[in-house]
Amino acid sequence: MTFLWVLALAIVLTAVLKKPIKKFPVLFYAIAIAIDVLFIMNSYVAFPRVVSSALFVFVHKCTFSLALFAIVMYIGVFAQGSKVKTYLLPIRAELSIIAWILSLGHMVVYLMAYVPQVLHGIEHMSGIVLGSLTVALVLFALLLVLGVTSFAVVKKSMKLHTWKRIQMLAYPFFILVYVHLLLMLLPAALNGGGVAQTSVAVYSVVFVGYIVLRLRRAVLDKRL
Ligand code: HEM
Repeated sequence: MTFLWVLALAIVLTAVLKKPIKKFPVLFYAIAIAIDVLFIMNSYVAFPRVVSSALFVFVHKCTFSLALFAIVMYIGVFAQGSKVKTYLLPIRAELSIIAWILSLGHMVVYLMAYVPQVLHGIEHMSGIVLGSLTVALVLFALLLVLGVTSFAVVKKSMKLHTWKRIQMLAYPFFILVYVHLLLMLLPAALNGGGVAQTSVAVYSVVFVGYIVLRLRRAVLDKRL
């Protein structure tokens, strides 16, 4: 399944580029913005097929952003002082800002797609579409708050306690992404769609696995 390849690529890139990301975060934010710009231009300019396919998989489908968010969240399941946590914790904020920028293309494209249906009247929308739109709007709002407060300059201007409480929103955000994916994929999966069924299985391992491991980490840390 595509997401697993994208996740593997994101893990390798994160590991290899750790030092440059920490040293030149703005360069990586600029690259993420440039990718978003390319994504928008792709609707108007005929890029080579390989470029437009990559933009479709990574940006339009939001897979690379999701892979980065998954890495950011999974850092929390490792013990304090463990190799993985010690290595990745210093670039956690930078990774979430890059993921945030890369998710904007996906969110804008699909939010715009809902506009004609909303203008036609929400009473004509099915329960599942209305539910999907509500989840999408909450995700959008959560990402806006989490994204803006991830920037070091915003963090410095806030009380640490308030900032920490806001960052706790990452948990409902991540769980809502799972709900979002299920809303998108379950109808096709239940109708026998093989690709959708595989996607549901893979995403379920990633998200349910995270919830179990994060709860385990919380219990173990309390015991110390
Ligand atoms: C305003 C917020 C959002 C809207 C309106 C939205 C809308 C959609 C829609 C309509 C689809 C189905 C696309 C299709 O079938 O081709 C979709 C798929 C997807 N969304 Fe979102 N989304 C939003 C936020 C997010 C966020 C925050 C993430 C994760 C970071 C995300 C990750 C994905 C992924 C990975 C898929 C592809 C699922 C698959 O086919 O395997 N979305 N989204």
